[in-house]
Amino acid sequence: MSCKIITVFNQKGGVGKTTLSVNLSYEAELRGLTTLLINIDPQGSAISWIANAPDENPFPAAIIDLSALGTKVRLEIEKHFNNYDLIIIDCPPNKEQKTAQAALMVSDIVVIPVDPTPMSLVASDQALQLIDEVKVYNDDLKTLIMASKMERTNLAKGVLSALHQTQGATTMKSCTTNLVAYAEAFFYGTGVSAVPGATKASDEIKSVTDEIFSHLENLSPGKIY
Ligand SMILES: Nc1ncnc2c1ncn2[C@@H]1O[C@H](COP(=O)(O)OP(=O)(O)OP(=O)(O)O)[C@@H](O)[C@H]1O
Ligand SMILES: [Mg+2]
Repeated sequence: MSCKIITVFNQKGGVGKTTLSVNLSYEAELRGLTTLLINIDPQGSAISWIANAPDENPFPAAIIDLSALGTKVRLEIEKHFNNYDLIIIDCPPNKEQKTAQAALMVSDIVVIPVDPTPMSLVASDQALQLIDEVKVYNDDLKTLIMASKMERTNLAKGVLSALHQTQGATTMKSCTTNLVAYAEAFFYGTGVSAVPGATKASDEIKSVTDEIFSHLENLSPGKIY
């Protein structure tokens, strides 16, 4: 199986899951990877994002909505393995995470975006517990924590250094900072690296993509081999 699966997960709302999922999908396509973005969030934010793209410049990755399937998502995801180099899954914010856990059963990497507030440390512990339940069945699952909407405050730096102490997960070196360009990308229906003038956000999302992909072995466009 050459298809790799990255799931973006945190049961806390508004931390940047959809923003990361959509931008990773966009950057993957730029790198020649045939990519499928799967929405399993009933809010459908990823679908709304892609719907904003103009007809003459459609979003490059394919997208499907499996949010109504519940735990049956796993079987449905498997049907796409042969057609894509990469699948990215955008999870909902819920205490109840059976659908996301079903997706994590077939994932290679789970990325947890964490915004730099003290409440988020509690949330990331809860996220890791939910992931641990899945690791019993999928012990190859790699867990990455990504600081999202980072700021230059001492509070944010303190939260980040606490995240670096996390057991059982790797806290990423790269992060996203708090920039309005991410919201603008939603309105353009594109990746932030295509937003005019968004150089800083573009640079950071490319570093984030490099770092996440560096954890995937044999990730190369299907057309090369
Ligand atoms: N790095 C960032 N800098 C500034 N704003 C950001 C950043 N990342 C995301 N946002 C904004 O934060 C809000 C929430 O982001 P997003 O929808 O990606 O979070 P989410 O975790 O998917 O939310 P939900 O839990 O509701 O699905 C959006 O308005 C988005 O534009
Ligand atoms: Mg979302």
